[in-house]
Amino acid sequence: MVRKLSPNVHWVGSLHWDRRLFDELIPLPDGTTYNAYLIQGTEKTALIDTVDPDKTTELFDNLSALEITHIDYVIPNHTEQDHSGSIPAVLERFPDARVVTNAKCKALCIDHLLIDPSRFIEIKDGETLSLGDKTLQFIMAPWVHWPETMLTYLQEDKILFSCDLFGSHLATSDLYTTDESYVYECAKRYYAEIMMPFRKNIQKHLQTLKNFDIAMIAPSHGPVHKKPAFIVDAYDDWISDRVKNEVIVPYVSMHGSVEKMVSYFIDAIVEYGITVKPFNLTRTDIGELAISLVDAATVVIGTPTVLVGPHPAAVYATYLANALRPKTRFASIIGSYGWGGKMPETIQSMLTNLKVEFLQPVIAKGHPKDNDYQELRRLADDIRAKHQTLTIMK
Ligand code: FEO
Repeated sequence: MVRKLSPNVHWVGSLHWDRRLFDELIPLPDGTTYNAYLIQGTEKTALIDTVDPDKTTELFDNLSALEITHIDYVIPNHTEQDHSGSIPAVLERFPDARVVTNAKCKALCIDHLLIDPSRFIEIKDGETLSLGDKTLQFIMAPWVHWPETMLTYLQEDKILFSCDLFGSHLATSDLYTTDESYVYECAKRYYAEIMMPFRKNIQKHLQTLKNFDIAMIAPSHGPVHKKPAFIVDAYDDWISDRVKNEVIVPYVSMHGSVEKMVSYFIDAIVEYGITVKPFNLTRTDIGELAISLVDAATVVIGTPTVLVGPHPAAVYATYLANALRPKTRFASIIGSYGWGGKMPETIQSMLTNLKVEFLQPVIAKGHPKDNDYQELRRLADDIRAKHQTLTIMK
């Protein structure tokens, strides 16, 4: 399938409708896409990104449909194999093609894809590459998603090929964003799972992009944004320091004590007009949990004690939350134990990446009793008071 973005600029990527897991980690309820773009100038032809190696045949079918017999430049914006994995096959099929990218991307391509170093042309931030009547400009954007990531701007058509930035794991027959609320949710999931750890880097890159006149954003996953403001404004919210008046409660309960405590706590939070989102960790899609972490003010982890520490499901969720580095302001723990252990200390020690203030946990011995419920009320009161000190986003 080939689709035209503008004169002599075509989408030649692949839709992966039924992929359900990425990196053997990230759920893909909506599948994904690997967007590759072919740009034909009056003198040279360039391919921006390729596709996952599983889909190389589709890329070649698309190039054949356009009767492409020669490619001058292959431009990986990023080395992760969902975009670069077909480069070796492309270089074999087009033996004169050169790989145009930055030094870090070159090194990673050599490491990961075993590409011959002589095939590369190295470029630097701000440099341009003429295709004749079309000019590509390279914008270094480290850490969206890897250290070598860059963006490519097509000056004449004002198209920004933004790589993972502004993308979404979404297989759709729509080339462009049409259903904005649906794409918003998919893009937010993508941001939560992939981009959130790099929030501060993205803040800087968005400032840089203000210097470019962008008519269209063509990411490497999901639909193309013909209204760049839609996705840029969404990112502005997500990367801001503002949080929502929300409490996220990832929890697991073995014999019902934690469940009762979580239930009481949720009621108290709701009573105070604060949005609460519980996630039973034995059932939840971790992507849903990640989305909620994007802008919630507070996280309260609920777990029983297994042997001497937290339940492994709570350990997994805590590890992920720490790795994703959300802008959470406050954290606490609700839990129970039978005879001892260091569950709260273990959870707290796993959240070192978060710049949170820890609120006094509530830990019951066995079944929760009156004093435990009073403590849960105290925790809800603490959270309400803390949230009142914040600039809250709507
Ligand atoms: Fe879509 Fe970081 O690769």
